[in-house]
Amino acid sequence: MNVGTNASGNDGESHGNRPPLHLPVLLQSVLAILELRCGLVVVDGTVGAGGHAVAISKAIGPDGVVVGLDRDREILAAAQAALADAKDAGAGASFSLHHSPHAEMCEVLLGAGQPQCDRVLLDLGVSSLQLDRPERGFSFMADGPLDMRMDASAPLTAAQWLARVPEQELADTLFQLGEERFSRRIARRIVEERRHTKIQRTSQLSKLVISAMPGAARHGRIHAATRTFQAVRMAVNDEMGELERGMAAAAKSLKPGGRLAVISFHSIEDRLVKHWMKANLDVVTKKPIIATPAEARQNPRARSAKLRCAAKPAVAA
Ligand SMILES: C[S@@+](CC[C@H](N)C(=O)[O-])C[C@H]1O[C@@H](n2cnc3c(N)ncnc32)[C@H](O)[C@@H]1O
Repeated sequence: MNVGTNASGNDGESHGNRPPLHLPVLLQSVLAILELRCGLVVVDGTVGAGGHAVAISKAIGPDGVVVGLDRDREILAAAQAALADAKDAGAGASFSLHHSPHAEMCEVLLGAGQPQCDRVLLDLGVSSLQLDRPERGFSFMADGPLDMRMDASAPLTAAQWLARVPEQELADTLFQLGEERFSRRIARRIVEERRHTKIQRTSQLSKLVISAMPGAARHGRIHAATRTFQAVRMAVNDEMGELERGMAAAAKSLKPGGRLAVISFHSIEDRLVKHWMKANLDVVTKKPIIATPAEARQNPRARSAKLRCAAKPAVAA
């Protein structure tokens, strides 16, 4: 997600000046492009700490419904508290939260008694709440187990994936998902190392990446391990596959005329969103919406965020 140093491969998420809590990116643009009004049913497919969801909840009011999904069960507690506060204050919508990938939003909606919805939001990548916990293994800034699973019940950790992925596939993954120009050198270094040592800690991986790079590349604008961590995280969580399945599920779940908004942080994601929307929906944003200079200063995560929106055709083709 998101161009600057960051701790997880979230471009633009500078660890040094990262805000302590997860600030929702492009919030005002999201609220505007979704054309929210009282009484709508809105799916937040990546509810995280609930930053966007709370603002959506207030915009659709007590007659509205927010259905929040996240594949990280732990993070739902933060969303629960934030949405309950808004509702208890009388300003918020009814809501339900579900430990589920957004690809399954059709089933979740049915279970929540809402066969279809009016709006869907997908805010990709990791939450600061995940990044800030070294034990989740997303960050190269603090040592922790090399985990990186968004869903802690998923079978494969980053350490297990790195232990078995063939060298060529690893190099291709680093190049394609991380846009890492030293992908082959890094892949070779990892494969050499794993012959005699288990790579199980974030600090181990970070040091290996640095040792594989030519000297001048070790001290660039972003931390040398940024792109590798991003690529490994995206592979372990199959983020591109999830994105495509999530958008397909959104298109199915939306009522005719309903809108899907997606915030992405990497060019590879933005390309997929752009082409997928063009092929399947009516595009609302011809060009992606980006952060204002003021928001980019206030929230480094917003610097590489791109927001696109499309609508389900009002009459099925
Ligand atoms: C950038 S955070 C969302 C932050 C949220 N919009 C807020 O304002 O607090 C992305 C969240 O999406 C979740 N996530 C990532 N991929 C997912 C998927 N395929 N299905 C459901 N949740 C997913 C992550 O666990 C994370 O909590």
